[in-house]
Order: sequence, then structure tokens, then C-alpha cells
Amino acid sequence: MQSYIQICDIEKYYGNPSNVTKAVDRVSFSVEKGEFVGVMGPSGSGKTTLLNMLATIDRVTSGHIFYENTDITELSENALSDFRKNNLGFVFQDYNLLDTLTIEENIILALTLQDEVKVIKPEESGNLGASSAPAGRRRSGAATGSAGSSLGKRQKIARSCDEILRLLGIEDIREKFPYQVSGGQKQRCACARALVNRPKLLLADEPTGALDSRAAQTLLETFTHLNRTMEATILMVTHDAFSASYCGRILFLKDGKIFHELIRGEKTRKRFLQEILDVLSLTGGELSDVE
Ligand SMILES: Nc1ncnc2c1ncn2[C@@H]1O[C@H](COP(=O)(O)OP(=O)(O)O)[C@@H](O)[C@H]1O
Ligand SMILES: [Mg+2]
Repeated sequence: MQSYIQICDIEKYYGNPSNVTKAVDRVSFSVEKGEFVGVMGPSGSGKTTLLNMLATIDRVTSGHIFYENTDITELSENALSDFRKNNLGFVFQDYNLLDTLTIEENIILALTLQDEVKVIKPEESGNLGASSAPAGRRRSGAATGSAGSSLGKRQKIARSCDEILRLLGIEDIREKFPYQVSGGQKQRCACARALVNRPKLLLADEPTGALDSRAAQTLLETFTHLNRTMEATILMVTHDAFSASYCGRILFLKDGKIFHELIRGEKTRKRFLQEILDVLSLTGGELSDVE
């Protein structure tokens, strides 16, 4: 059976013939629908480059990337932009929020660009974030259920935006501009913007890098929930073993190549975390992206 994503021998070179950097060096792997895959590796090992090629933000130097049966390395710019819009959510390492828009407007913009707005149903958002808002204030309750389909686009956008702000615990900063909030809050906004359209594939570059451990845990639980209940496939770059332990499988990159893979299987998260730490200690343990 064909995998959901097949990465076939991709390479990315930067520079000119006299001074070439091989950022990604003949990487191949596949991802099945509904997997939650982590990518770990030291700074400069090619994690962002790899993710950007999967996100179609960057073109491969050679090789092919198939999403289901489509080779995205062969698509035109127009086809790529449709593909991105219909399938992908992306969390950038440096957030990429629009500075002239408030936190709420950044999210609304992402929703506005969609042809059809999907309202997050209560059973999909589950209990996540419930601690950040009293039950009585949760607008997702009866309001979104069966009535969701009869709502106009503007109402759907408002509902979806409210729900995702609540889910990520950033309702209280909705009116603020990115420069008025902390790095962790910007990061949660970037995640909210990527998640609000319920992408089939979520690509996240160090999404917990600026978060304290509690906020990181909430975000990872949100990812896990999205992965389990909405069957979203997730690829997450991280240098943090705790974050990686939420994944079902981890690919370890070094010098642009995959050198190891870990599969969680039926192991507890704690056990998996120990295995990850063991691999890191074998490779010198220094995966921090903080220069
Ligand atoms: N736009 C670029 N131009 C030239 N070199 C680049 C560019 N982007 C990344 N690189 C180089 O490619 C390698 C991999 O970078 P990157 O994918 O950002 O690594 P990571 O995300 O693992 O830290 C590094 O050596 C980096 O300096
Ligand atoms: Mg990076």
C-alpha cells in the first residue's frame, strides 16, 4: 500500500559550486496517515530545511516527495498554493506572525483564506484547555454542535477563533499585537493559527522552543488530541526529548542524513523518553538550537 507521504532520496544544497552546503543529503522515509513523527538533530543538521521542503516552502535540489499519489516537487506554484491551503498547517520556528494584526486577527486571517471554515466540534476539542476557562464560558458547547452547519461564514470564523484561543489558553491576549506579548504567547498564537483550519498535515518547527514546561505540555496534549481524534498527521521538529516523547516515532538527523529511528510502540511515554535520552547521550547529548 502506498504511504501517505513518501520522501524519496531528497537533497537540498545551498551555495555555489565552489562552496556547497549539503543541508539535506539523500533522505528517504515514509509517513503513514495519522502518524505523529518527531525529527531530532543538532543545530544545523537540516531539520528546518527538511520540514520546509515538505511544506513546499522550499524546493528540493533533487529527489521526490509524494503526498498520496501526487509528486509535489513537480507541481506549479498555483497548484502548490492550493495544496498548501487545503492540506497543511505550519508552525514556523520564528512564528511568522503579522505584526500589524492582533493575535486574534492573525488567526482570523488564516480562517478567512479558507474556502470553507470547519467549526471545531465539542467532541473534537475534548477537555483540552478546559482548565483555562470555566465550563460555563465554553462557547463550543451546544452552540456549535448540530447548528454548526447552518452558520454563516462570519459566525463560523468567530466560533472557530474563540475555540482555538481557548484551547491554547490565549484568550486574554486576543486584542494584543505580537510585539506586546511574550515569545511563548506568540508561539501559542502561531500554533493556534496552524491548528484552526484542522489541517490534514501539521508541520511544526520547534513548536515548544519558547514555552515553559506547563505550556509545552498543554500544547503537546493538544497535538496528541488532534492526532488521535481528528486523524491529523503530524511532523514535529524538536531538540527537546520531553516534547519528542509524545511522538509515535522519531527520526534522528545528523549532517543532513537520518542516522537513527526510534518507535514508541506500546511503550509508556516515560520509557520512550528514556530511550530518546539514551540516543542523545550516545550522540553527545547536545541538540539545543540555542546558539
Ligand atoms: N538559506 C540558506 N542559505 C544557505 N545555507 C543555508 C540556508 N538555510 C540553511 N542553510 C544551512 O543548511 C544547514 C541546515 O540548516 P537548517 O535546516 O536550518 O538546520 P536546523 O534546522 O537543523 O538547525 C546549515 O548548515 C545551514 O547553515
Ligand atoms: Mg531549525
